[in-house]
Amino acid sequence: MPTWSDRAFDLAVSVAHRAGRLLDRNLLGRRTIEHKSGFGNLVTEMDRASEELIVRAIRRTFPDHAIVAEESGRHEGAGGRWFVDPLDGTMNYAHGLPMYAVSIAFEREGRMEGGVVYHPALDELWWARRGRGAWRNRRRVRVSRTARLSEAFLCTGFPYAMAPKVENLRYWDAFIRRASAVRRVGSASLDLCYTAGGIYDGFWEFHLGPWDIAAGLLLCEEAGAKVSNYTGRPVDLFRGEVVAANPRLHQAMLAVLRRARLY
Ligand code: 2AM
Ligand code: CA
Repeated sequence: MPTWSDRAFDLAVSVAHRAGRLLDRNLLGRRTIEHKSGFGNLVTEMDRASEELIVRAIRRTFPDHAIVAEESGRHEGAGGRWFVDPLDGTMNYAHGLPMYAVSIAFEREGRMEGGVVYHPALDELWWARRGRGAWRNRRRVRVSRTARLSEAFLCTGFPYAMAPKVENLRYWDAFIRRASAVRRVGSASLDLCYTAGGIYDGFWEFHLGPWDIAAGLLLCEEAGAKVSNYTGRPVDLFRGEVVAANPRLHQAMLAVLRRARLY
């Protein structure tokens, strides 16, 4: 008999694929871009179309579950809770850059049980289930073993809002001087997958939404990463401040962030 979690996972996989294919088909199509609150924060009709497809499917199968989705906000429910980013990397998508993904995670009784991040451009499904590891398609993934910051390949992202964007320049400056290289690609869910997969050695970012990170953080944990906020405490999904790194580098990253902090 499939468990609740098996059914939820199967649904997440199938709907992430469907939404991803919908986005992929329309990547280079004409689209209307709408600017949400403030500079840089945009939404396309494709964010909405993808979210509608995903939310409808979850509601149909699990009508008593709550959903926290980027574009439509919260849907109440008690049975379980879903985190849905129908298009992570909207800026990339709007410009036709294929570094974007669909991110879906589900939790029960406050514990994340499963997460999937589907990257349509490479037809890659990154996924994790609690206690069962992190996977890239059919291959199990692990974090890297790099122990020195000077050899580390790191990534971050810049929020759309101006004040935190400027604040991150301080951290960017500090890491650029100390690490081997730093990337900023524009999709937090994919950044976390690549950290789980040992491609990046570590990731830091703040001002993220719960939908951006819920699935990717489970992948990181299941891949052996150490995950915390900037002061080393557990991540609060709704505060969106994250440092995820292989366990050899995590402390060193926290130290850099602490020293670079303004206050
Ligand atoms: P999005 O593409 O779904 O909007 C960019 O570094 C990353 O941060 C992307 O994953 C982007 O998600 C996310 N992001 C940027 N500003 C954000 C905000 N104000 N709220 C939530 N997520 C944000
Ligand atoms: Ca989004």
